[in-house]
Amino acid sequence: MNLLEAIRTRRTTNGYFKPDPVSLEHQRLLVEAAGRAPSHFNSQPWRFILIDDEKIRTRIAELGGECMTQLIDEGKFFSRYKKYFRFDEKEMEERRDGILIDQLPAPLRPFIKQIFSDTALKVMRGLGVPKLLGSDNTKLVSASPLILAALLKKDEYIPGELSGFYCVLSLGMAIENVWLTTGALGMGIQFISTPMEIPEAWQEIKQLLKVPDDMELMAMYRIGYTPDKRDRPRIDWTSNQRKRLSQLAFRNTCETPESDAPSALDEFEK
Ligand SMILES: Cc1cc2nc3c(=O)[nH]c(=O)nc-3n(C[C@H](O)[C@H](O)[C@H](O)COP(=O)(O)O)c2cc1C
Repeated sequence: MNLLEAIRTRRTTNGYFKPDPVSLEHQRLLVEAAGRAPSHFNSQPWRFILIDDEKIRTRIAELGGECMTQLIDEGKFFSRYKKYFRFDEKEMEERRDGILIDQLPAPLRPFIKQIFSDTALKVMRGLGVPKLLGSDNTKLVSASPLILAALLKKDEYIPGELSGFYCVLSLGMAIENVWLTTGALGMGIQFISTPMEIPEAWQEIKQLLKVPDDMELMAMYRIGYTPDKRDRPRIDWTSNQRKRLSQLAFRNTCETPESDAPSALDEFEK
């Protein structure tokens, strides 16, 4: 796969993977690709945990689902993230950011315009949506053959200091390498982020993974081989829209937006 094609076709996978285990060769390739990323003074402040143990994956999946249920039931998920939700293709076409919710269960569709209101939350609770989404998430994560945890060494990762910022930047680049490599190997990847939002759950995962005191658990991803045919989840979105050049870049100073031009990357889109 050519690099530009890999960049253009990189996606988040929010559906199921094939049940096949990720080969050891591929697992090692993913972390080797991560380790090839640049870092300040070649400090390589990252560490990774390759989790294929079923018991550990199952517990992470349960926690992920429970956290999702809690976040939705308490209304925290929507209040925190509502600014990223688009329900209207026209708005998406203009802004070209956020996620366009283009698949919803029929009973929820009439509430689309007031999806963030207290009434909608009550309806969702009444329909058992928080539990449903939580259990969907648990199934999705537990069926993923590999979970990758990303850590930073605390002697480098010092929040508030420049080295803390450099570490996060470096880890982002390492993760992008993993992400692009999954695409080249016929695999997909998705953040498992809900436990990060509930401190007790995150703490339990750190204990489960035996993260030592001198390391910080930063993020977790589920990884697997992508199926030939993708079934859309109950609630689904598209997020392949990207800003135009004129919305994304300036020429020389922030006063002059870059001119728009036909996309050179679009030809790789499937
Ligand atoms: C820091 C960060 C956090 C993210 N958190 C989540 C997440 O919690 N769940 C998820 O499904 N995707 C998550 N994503 C993926 C983004 O939603 C996704 O990259 C974006 O919508 C663009 O879609 P694409 O990756 O398919 O191009 C995250 C991405 C980043 C960089």
